Amino acid sequence: MNYSGHKNMDETLAQLQSLLAPFGQTHLLDFWDRLTPEERNSLEAEIRAIDFGQIARLFEKREAGEDLHEMIERAGPPPALRLDGQNNRFSADEARSRGREAMQAGQIGVILVAGGQGTRLGFPHPKGMFPIGPVSGNSLFQIHIEKILADSRRYGVSIPLYIMTSPATHDETVEFLDRNDRFGLAKDQLTIFRQGTMPAVDDQSGKVLLVNKSHLALSPDGHGGMLDAFAKSGAMDAARDRGIRQLFYFQVDNPLVDICGLDFLGYHLLSGSEFSSQVIAKRDPLDRVGNIVRLEDERLLMVEYSDLPEKLAHRRNPDGSLEIWAGSIAVHVMDLEFLNRMAKQTAAGNEALPFHTARKKVDYLDRSGRTVRPDEPNAIKFERFIFDLLPSAADAIAVEVDPQRAFAPLKNAPGDPTDTPESVKAQLVAQAKDWLQRAGIEVSEGVKVEISPLFARNETEVAKKIPAGTQVTQDRYFC
Ligand code: UD1
Repeated sequence: MNYSGHKNMDETLAQLQSLLAPFGQTHLLDFWDRLTPEERNSLEAEIRAIDFGQIARLFEKREAGEDLHEMIERAGPPPALRLDGQNNRFSADEARSRGREAMQAGQIGVILVAGGQGTRLGFPHPKGMFPIGPVSGNSLFQIHIEKILADSRRYGVSIPLYIMTSPATHDETVEFLDRNDRFGLAKDQLTIFRQGTMPAVDDQSGKVLLVNKSHLALSPDGHGGMLDAFAKSGAMDAARDRGIRQLFYFQVDNPLVDICGLDFLGYHLLSGSEFSSQVIAKRDPLDRVGNIVRLEDERLLMVEYSDLPEKLAHRRNPDGSLEIWAGSIAVHVMDLEFLNRMAKQTAAGNEALPFHTARKKVDYLDRSGRTVRPDEPNAIKFERFIFDLLPSAADAIAVEVDPQRAFAPLKNAPGDPTDTPESVKAQLVAQAKDWLQRAGIEVSEGVKVEISPLFARNETEVAKKIPAGTQVTQDRYFC
């Protein structure tokens, strides 16, 4: 390297030192002397991308939240449209017809969050690539996309799909969808945008961890990172320009999700809600799902099961049902103008979405240059959750759905007690069997059936395609 190169590097080092010193983070430069110019460049870029003042504030506040606990203790159930329809403000028919109108007008877009690392599943690729089709072996991505294609055809519109990836899942997701010709989506129907990252810090000192000599321990900034990333990538403006008014939001792990379900869309629109969430009636007070509650000031809030006070969780109505009954399955509809307003507030420094902290095990490089693989949580990660927009939304509602028909999350590795590939496949088969049987088709005991969304999206469509009285005696994929 020539003299001016050295000089530049010395200057860079000095600049980085003065940037980091006020926050006690100069250890990030411990190995600077041993890095190649390329490694120095990438370390510099990672350091400059971080707001160390923000990290310091978040670390400082990590245990706060007492006020929230008190508020939660006085919470009650949210305004909701229930499956029994008894006290609903609108009928399911009214809702479906409003939903259909919005679909036909091309006002609905779909957003899929797929930036998570899926650590619990133990699958070394983005979760959306997992072959979950019980007979077809089709991936989660293909099953989701076929629903969007089927609805696009049915309503004569081109429904846009926005997929959020993270640095951990981006390249493979793009490559997989390219290789499969986007499973039939038109080029201008699919937008893939990347969420941001946050550094992990040591849980005792607040120091940012290094994974190796030239890289910080960065991880996706939570599904709430969608707000920022959707706006900054330009996808939000593009959606608005194409006439989208509402976004149907869901997680990559649930192949039973009823994408663009008409009654859900309709209830949302008829209620004038800015943020609506699908919920299931919890069976057990401590079910491991988020709980939607209403605070005393009428705002809605999502409370993770781990934060729900036990006393409140167990409280029952006079008829014996749970008072805090609404378990979130992380399927929402959001008003695009509302999202836009929230994104602008965030950009102006008035954060619509707080960061949550979680203690995690994170491998790191210690100061002597050795990689440490801790057995116990040693680090704090910072994540935003999209459902924290709920309290800011006008007229937010919960809409109850039947878990058998709408919720089969793939979370855990084969062999675990719940939410495994086996249990999800069994639910997909059960739904297909149910549709076939309702259409008068007999499926022999032990036979596996699967229905492509392109073949039918519900039992009525099945009935139009297969004559009643048909018998299915061996495994079959209807496509
Ligand atoms: C989540 C919800 C929980 C809900 C449950 C239903 C949270 C904190 N909890 O739990 O209330 O009952 O789903 O299945 O969300 N993702 C990103 N970027 C990230 C992190 C996650 O895109 O940075 C995506 C994942 O790809 C996935 C989804 O968000 O599609 C959910 O993430 P995950 O961490 O699996 O949430 P859960 O803890 O299972």
